[in-house]
Amino acid sequence: MSVRLCRIGLMACAVAVVLVANAVRAAEVKKSVAVLQPTKGSTVNGVVTFTKVEGGVRVVADINGLTPGEHGFHIHDFGDCSAPDATSAGGHFNPEGHQHGAPDAEMRHVGDLGNITADAGGKAHYDRVDKQLALEGDHSIIGRSVIVHEQADDLKSQPTGNAGARLACGAIGVAKE
Ligand code: CU
Ligand code: ZN
Repeated sequence: MSVRLCRIGLMACAVAVVLVANAVRAAEVKKSVAVLQPTKGSTVNGVVTFTKVEGGVRVVADINGLTPGEHGFHIHDFGDCSAPDATSAGGHFNPEGHQHGAPDAEMRHVGDLGNITADAGGKAHYDRVDKQLALEGDHSIIGRSVIVHEQADDLKSQPTGNAGARLACGAIGVAKE
């Protein structure tokens, strides 16, 4: 289209280039969100936001309905929470083909966010900047899912950290900034 306009005249060509540049800029996603719903037999729910910041993506999670203590917290391959046990979400998001690991490890699944820790009231808050997550490109988490697990992620067992059943699942979508 821009090529055809460029044949009409320089002015039309310049307009077309500006329009295309604006379209690209408008497509940049700066924030995304996952609303987590309980799996069958669970009451765990919550909201996780992912915001582009200097040095990576800031992850802020508030989860309710947990047993006190640590629970595995990951991004899984597919934004499909339709199965009653959320197995439809697939495995950990792993575009580099690495082994499972801790969130601060160089070699890890991109989806390895470690654990969230619930207090005596069953509430967990998580807030950290992650260097491997992205909202575009090969590491983009848009359209994938967040899963909270029954047990702690031991940060080393393959391929899942031995975190047990899936208690809540939410697809990651584009959020209003
Ligand atoms: Cu998981
Ligand atoms: Zn993993």
